[in-house]
Amino acid sequence: MNIGVFASGRGSNFQAILSAIERGVLSANVTLLLSNKSDAGAFEIAKAYSIPTVHLSQKQFADEALYATAMLEVLRNHHVELIALAGYLKKIPTIVVREFRHRILNIHPALLPSFGGQGMYGHHVHEAVLASGAKLSGATVHLVDEEYDRGPIVLQKTVAVDEHDTPESLAAKVLKVEHEIFPLALKAFAEKENNVV
Ligand code: GRF
Repeated sequence: MNIGVFASGRGSNFQAILSAIERGVLSANVTLLLSNKSDAGAFEIAKAYSIPTVHLSQKQFADEALYATAMLEVLRNHHVELIALAGYLKKIPTIVVREFRHRILNIHPALLPSFGGQGMYGHHVHEAVLASGAKLSGATVHLVDEEYDRGPIVLQKTVAVDEHDTPESLAAKVLKVEHEIFPLALKAFAEKENNVV
């Protein structure tokens, strides 16, 4: 299974996917790293693993249709079968969502369907969890549809919220389980694909 990873930031989830492949836990190839940010840390990781990279931003195009067409072309050129959103902060154009229906996975740093939606990213998520008084948080892998953070849930793992937690300490605990469950969810998809005759 060929995976295209989309990342906007440092790329620790991208690294976790690559490590799972290296360990033989996940049988897949990462054929593309796409980022909307030209200075994303994820580019360094891609370089270390000789993974092809593309910087693609809507700002480079006159309208969304042209942007979406370019994204589809990049995906086709790199033979991408499944897209993994690893800290990708932009909405995927509808045309791409339709073309890759049930083949786009996102990792979210909370237990969806709570604490998701537009604006719920990074420290905002953990601040909201702490403000709610929830005793559990965690990570969620879900399929991407046309709405932010609303597609079907594939895998979740919880972490305990302690009374002394700060947004930073909670983020660190959640990130650890993100790195566990994202490769596992991808593995489930890769195995399903291998079993199709
Ligand atoms: C992670 O917390 C992920 O859940 C969220 O963005 C963060 C990305 O971190 N969507 P990294 O770039 O993978 O280190």
